[in-house]
Amino acid sequence: MNNTSTAGLEALQSLREQLAKVIVGQTTLLDRLLLALLGGGHVLLEGPPGLAKTTAVHALACGVHASFQRIQFTPDLMPGDLTGSEIYEAATGGFRFLPGPLFHEILLADEINRAPPKVQSALLEAMAEQQITVGGETRRLPELFIVLATQNPLEQSGTYPLPEAQLDRFLFHVLLDYPGVEEEVEIVRRARASRDGHLESQVQAVLEPAQILSLRDGLQDIHIEPAVERYAVELVAATRDPGRWQPDWADMVVAGASPRGSIWLLKAASARALLAGRDYVIPEDVIALAPDVLRHRLVLDFAAASAGIDAETIIQGLLDKVPAP
Ligand SMILES: Nc1ncnc2c1ncn2[C@@H]1O[C@H](COP(=O)(O)OP(=O)(O)OP(=O)(O)O)[C@@H](O)[C@H]1O
Ligand SMILES: [Mg+2]
Repeated sequence: MNNTSTAGLEALQSLREQLAKVIVGQTTLLDRLLLALLGGGHVLLEGPPGLAKTTAVHALACGVHASFQRIQFTPDLMPGDLTGSEIYEAATGGFRFLPGPLFHEILLADEINRAPPKVQSALLEAMAEQQITVGGETRRLPELFIVLATQNPLEQSGTYPLPEAQLDRFLFHVLLDYPGVEEEVEIVRRARASRDGHLESQVQAVLEPAQILSLRDGLQDIHIEPAVERYAVELVAATRDPGRWQPDWADMVVAGASPRGSIWLLKAASARALLAGRDYVIPEDVIALAPDVLRHRLVLDFAAASAGIDAETIIQGLLDKVPAP
């Protein structure tokens, strides 16, 4: 490992410390945010209201010297509110492009499932292609571009579930759970202690975009043994044919994860290795990340729901059954 990447890794670790200054516990959440930043993938955070989803993403943005924008998704949002639009300039008699919030490096798409499909698909192009097309012209987004989206589960009226194609664009789908009592005591204490509640005054920016990009380049040099590579692919393939591993799951999965899932699983595993200071992936990297990388890529039949089986059950089951190297 050269000096630049050692410094980058140290900066990434101190970003973790900055986040821990404002977020109590939620270690999986913080870990996935760092891995996504490193791997260049998008994250979907899901959990009940009040679990620090928005706060965590905002804190992350404060910890990186990058341009940040929060978009509150609402039913009346229009695609142009994200992409920007051509505006007429009376002085010149011509049109000028006014870039929208998508042109920032770190984007918080808050309560993403409250916007209608048209808006979600504008985001889809941006996430998949790192570019957007407005008025027939295609424009590149910043190199660092990463979407951190939040949604509430089992939503009430006025929400539009994300289409499968859109879900597949997320590297991680992270599910949040309530803190324990000890943690919650700490949360209320910190809330009382922070006077103005402004994250900007509590979180220092410790990481440069250039450092992130150079660490990202380094992911290609992380070694993956053929047996580990094969294991990741077999896990992903097993989500498409779970009946082979557990006969009563045969008809429950309508669609499993695609090769995009395999690519991302190994990329995330490489990022986990790098963050742990290793230059090679171990099976544990794949095992630890498989649920968050795969759960949103499985589409289950309603027979599964009535049998009380969800994506989680199937992925955990496959992790138990598919032999690790
Ligand atoms: N683990 C935690 N550490 C620190 N603060 C927390 C934690 N959990 C909740 N809070 C506090 O609870 C409040 C709500 O957090 P936030 O608005 O980020 O929640 P959210 O998950 O985005 O909720 P919603 O789904 O309603 O948007 C904030 O004041 C936040 O600081
Ligand atoms: Mg929120």
